[in-house]
Amino acid sequence: MDKLNVKRSSRLLVMLYNEWRKHENIERPLKIEWNVMHMFSSSQLAKLYALKYEIDFELCSIIAILHDIAVVEGKFKSDHDSLAQKYVLGAINRYNNEYRKKLDPITDEEIEIILSAISVHSDKEIFSNNRYVEMLKNVDSVDRYLYGIKTEEAYSTRTESFLKDLNIL
Ligand SMILES: [Fe+2]
Repeated sequence: MDKLNVKRSSRLLVMLYNEWRKHENIERPLKIEWNVMHMFSSSQLAKLYALKYEIDFELCSIIAILHDIAVVEGKFKSDHDSLAQKYVLGAINRYNNEYRKKLDPITDEEIEIILSAISVHSDKEIFSNNRYVEMLKNVDSVDRYLYGIKTEEAYSTRTESFLKDLNIL
């Protein structure tokens, strides 16, 4: 099998893990441990999703890594998608300007796709033709399901459709 090129997303994961593990659980909408677990596992599910549907797997992984950053850094729960832009851009700047060292930067074109997916990912009941928007909503739904979180309505539709496509259901 060909080796997957995911060096940038792995570096980004390490950067955010090193930052996030220093947070304490004070006045936080969700425990930081949850956000760290969900960041790692949704990033891996995003790669599986990308391989299945033949979209850019590293970009999918980066989107998943960053998708709940406003919950962690802004302590937002509702509207954490529409308020994410400044936190997403901040993390990408830290990655591009320092943490990536000799790895390629995350490009402006990629940033546009990343923001378009993250900014609407809470609206699970809205389906669109944007493959990266759908990827994030589906991966977010499946990851919650795999942690035993009650999965209903659009979350259930999305989880079932991905698991069926993987021949699991
Ligand atoms: Fe999420």
